[in-house]
Amino acid sequence: MIPVHLFGRPAVLPKVDLPVVEDAAQSIGACKLYGIMSCLSFFPSKNLGAFGDGGAVLCDDAEVADKVVLLRAHGSRPKYVHHVVGGNFRLDALQAAILRVKLPQLPRWTAGRRANAERYRRLFAGSPGIPPELRLPQDVPGHIYNQFVIRAPRRDGLRQHLSKQGIGTEVYYPLALHLQPCFAGLGFREGAFPHAEAATRQALALPIFAELTEEQQTHVVTQIAAYYR
Ligand SMILES: Cc1ncc(COP(=O)(O)O)c(C=O)c1O
Repeated sequence: MIPVHLFGRPAVLPKVDLPVVEDAAQSIGACKLYGIMSCLSFFPSKNLGAFGDGGAVLCDDAEVADKVVLLRAHGSRPKYVHHVVGGNFRLDALQAAILRVKLPQLPRWTAGRRANAERYRRLFAGSPGIPPELRLPQDVPGHIYNQFVIRAPRRDGLRQHLSKQGIGTEVYYPLALHLQPCFAGLGFREGAFPHAEAATRQALALPIFAELTEEQQTHVVTQIAAYYR
């Protein structure tokens, strides 16, 4: 089972009798290891972003760690003796050097993101003109706010309006998994997963990075209220 700790929010995981590999690509530091391993991404949009691609696997089992290390470089040990068919999953040395400099800043950036999420909540609560259907992300313990995703009525119009005001937003994600062309062979049609489909129509990620100022956040919320008025 591959649960996804999406947007930085730790998923609530039931006890299951299955091997669990956690997708913590967006949730570095949000939760303790639950399954066999937890996978991180250092893609530039992540809380700890490299200047290119990178990732890491967290685990607390020496045997699993050994297997991951083996798979990382074509299954070879020693060099040119191949025990399994692996791949090239090496973390590039240049990216590693960048991540080593950035890593000590991560707690500060996480605190900044959390503080910005709090500030959005206050600004939204004190802002007349926000429709009641507009929902803010639930504030669950451990959330690291890789994204601050609201559920917004008339989302596409809102996004256009914000873009004209110089406010960048993103849609995570515009097309649900079961409607992706690569999964067409599974035979699911529109309507099969109504909750996922509603999310694709309503979700909108607002700026949340640590350096965001109060003035900028006020501008975002003011412009959202202006759109609905
Ligand atoms: C939830 C989630 N899982 C997996 C990935 C894949 O990570 P990467 O692009 O580093 O392979 C990403 C990021 O792109 C992600 O956001």
